Order: sequence, then C-alpha cells, then structure tokens
Amino acid sequence: MLSRTLLAVSRSDRIRGLSVAMPGTRQIVNRFVAGESIQDAIGVAADLAASGRYSAIDRLGEDIVELSQAQETRDEYLELLESLAANGLADEAEVSLKLSSIGLALPDGEKIALGHARQIAEAADEAGTTLTLDMEDHTTTDTVLATVRELRNDYPGVGVVLQACLYRTEADCRELSGEGSRVRLCKGAYREPESVAYQAPHEIDLAYVRCLRILMEGSGYPMVATHDPRLVDIAQALAIHNDRPRGSYEFQMLLGVRPEEQQRLADQGERVSVYVPFGPDWYEYMVRRMAEKPANLALLVKSLSSKK
Ligand code: FDA
Repeated sequence: MLSRTLLAVSRSDRIRGLSVAMPGTRQIVNRFVAGESIQDAIGVAADLAASGRYSAIDRLGEDIVELSQAQETRDEYLELLESLAANGLADEAEVSLKLSSIGLALPDGEKIALGHARQIAEAADEAGTTLTLDMEDHTTTDTVLATVRELRNDYPGVGVVLQACLYRTEADCRELSGEGSRVRLCKGAYREPESVAYQAPHEIDLAYVRCLRILMEGSGYPMVATHDPRLVDIAQALAIHNDRPRGSYEFQMLLGVRPEEQQRLADQGERVSVYVPFGPDWYEYMVRRMAEKPANLALLVKSLSSKK
C-alpha cells in the first residue's frame, strides 16, 4: 500500500523539486547511485571488479521529451563504452539501457530508439562487452522485445529484462530461453494493473520461480536479478538440478542493496553483477528503490531533516 502511494505521490512535480533540492538528499542517493559522471561510474566498476564482482552500468534518465536529450544520452553511452575499454574494464562491465532514455516516447520513438540502441550495441561490441535492455512498464514490453529481436540479428549477445510479475512472462521466458539468449529475470518495479500483472507479493514470487525454472532448464544465459534470499537459494538449487556450472548463469543485484550478500556469493565462486546507475537524473530510480523498501524512505527522511 505504501509502495503504491509513494509511486503515485512521486509523480508530483512539487515533491520532485523539493526532494531534489534538499541538501541532505545526496547522502542517501550516494548509496544507490555511483555519481553524476562517467568517471564516477568507472570508479565504482573498478572497485567492484577488484572485489570479484561485475557491473551493469546504467545512465539514468527516462521519459525524455526532446530529441536532443535522447542524442545526449546515446552519446554518453558511446563515451562510457570507450572509457570501459580504455580502462580495461570491458570484461568486467556491461551497459544497461532504457529505451525511454534514448527516445522511445518521442513521435516516431520506436524508430529513433532502435537507431540509437543499434549504435550503442555496435559500440558495446567494439569495446568487447555487451548491452542489456531494461524493461519499463507493460505498455512498452512488446516494443522492447521487438527491439531486442532486431538487434540480436547483428549482435546476438544483446540481453533483455523480463518481469516475473507480468502474466505474459512465462511465455516470454520460453521463447527467450534458447542458446546464448541472455535474459535478466526480475520481479518488476512498476505499478501494473491487475489485468496484466500479479498483485500479491507471494504470487509474484511463485511466478518468479516458474520463470526461473524455464530459464535454468533452457540453454540460454539466465541473469537472476533479485535480493530475495529464498529466490537466491532456489536459483542455486535449480542450477545444480540442471547441471549448470557456475558462470553459465549469474546473480545480479543493485548497487547499495545487500552488498554483503553480493560479496558472499562472489566469494563462493558465483558470478555476481551489480547494477550501477549514474547520472544527474536519479529521482525516478530512487523513488522505485524506496517503494521496494520503506526503510530506505525512513533513511531519506532522516537525511532530509539533518542539518548537513
Ligand atoms: P523484494 O523487493 O521482495 O526484496 C527482497 C529483499 O531484498 C528485501 O526483503 C530486502 O531485504 C532486500 N531489498 C530489496 N530491494 C531493496 C531496496 N531497494 N533497498 C534495500 N533492500 C532491498 N525492474 C524492472 O521493472 N525493470 C528492470 O529492467 C529492472 N532491472 C533490474 C536489474 C537488476 C540488476 C535488479 C537487481 C533489479 C532490477 N529491477 C528491474 C528491479 C526489480 O524488478 C525489483 O523491483 C527489485 O529488484 C526488488 O525486488 P527483489 O527481487 O529484490 O525482491
């Protein structure tokens, strides 16, 4: 209930303006966001690599309304990929991308976003790494999947996110569980209507397990994106059951969320990738993180009321 209220309230421009301007906000944001610049993201990826963890770097900024903003975001990705290669991090870090950040919502947005995504996929390939497309709300699922299919004709390593909360996702997992197919499975961070998505947390968890079973039985590369300890255990059990060696799947978690668990899994020899967001437009991302964990909201309120 609180999550729904928070996601709804967050759409107010006034709340947004207040939150972004508060001096204490930065403190809590720093836990979940690498910083504003490419160099900040590279620094975090280097630290993670030194601890045996991988990174999936995301340039924050969604629902842009001007073509120039979409081009700017594309250019940042191209620069990021050059920097990854120049810093010797292409084996340890990939990039994650929201189609809305590169123009999906603009008039003729599908074509624009596909064109920009293709340039980014090409740059990722040249840098020696991969691109994964994030999944946004359910109205974009078909477009994201069509874009991935198109990109995979030339860049078969392009990955995609599927959200277990959507009824359709078991079927999507079946379709995308073939050889080499990189699929990141998450619960889903958007408020979706009952007509398309499970609402109760336990129903979403059960759907996650059904989807995970399909991906682990398949011949693709499952990326298990969850902090839920029961799902982590189930993923490890399914990997053993399906004779999957470590490295034929991976765990993924968000920067700042359960870092000890990330390290514990990495130390066990599991491949663990950390989602590293960066950029000045952190507001929507932070609201989703707080909706998932109200304790984070308490932290934010505390930081807002501090004098620092
Ligand atoms: P759940 O929310 O049930 O949390 C399980 C436990 O994890 C909690 O009890 C708590 O201990 C801890 N935890 C979870 N979230 C926390 C937080 N914010 N702060 C502190 N502790 C927390 N979604 C989407 O719709 N599209 C996408 O493209 C992506 N991409 C993506 C990539 C990666 C790498 C991850 C890990 C997640 C996503 N997500 C996403 C987000 C995802 O859908 C989901 O909202 C969050 O991962 C939270 O769900 P959990 O599976 O962690 O379970």
